Amino acid sequence: MLNERMEEALNEQINKEMYSSYLYLAMSAYSSSIGLPGFAHWFRVQVEEENIHAMKLFDYINNQGGRVKLKEIKEPPMEFGTPRSMFQQTLKHEQFVTRLIHELVDLARAEKDDNTVSFLQWYVDEQVEEEENDNEIIAKLIDVDDNKDALSELDAKLAKRLPPK
Ligand code: FEO
Repeated sequence: MLNERMEEALNEQINKEMYSSYLYLAMSAYSSSIGLPGFAHWFRVQVEEENIHAMKLFDYINNQGGRVKLKEIKEPPMEFGTPRSMFQQTLKHEQFVTRLIHELVDLARAEKDDNTVSFLQWYVDEQVEEEENDNEIIAKLIDVDDNKDALSELDAKLAKRLPPK
């Protein structure tokens, strides 16, 4: 059973995950618009990841006898600059989400809600992975610098990202 504060906070996180999905969909569209189909694909897969994050929260609230409340999703930007800048924005966003997840864990602990503490551990681990992925790609983009062939090569690599399991 979720208490009111926890339910509200988890509902807020659904909204943040849906915004993440929307943000990466915008980045996918932007990548297509600057001729980087592999980047566009990578972000499309990320959209699926974010939808899973949101739906896990949705199911958890329902299964705990809570009430899901869907809120308005903020409009994401349309322009993201260079591929490197775009991934730096991605990393910054993921660091923000990591802070939100840690705040949720703190709240669940304060409310003595062990089920939710345990449920949230999956997100704590997931955020480590999300930030690692972004850092890896940023490192590659630093190597690419202004080299067009190297950027095409990286684009071809990102095109191979598999859908979430
Ligand atoms: Fe759902 Fe990318 O954090």
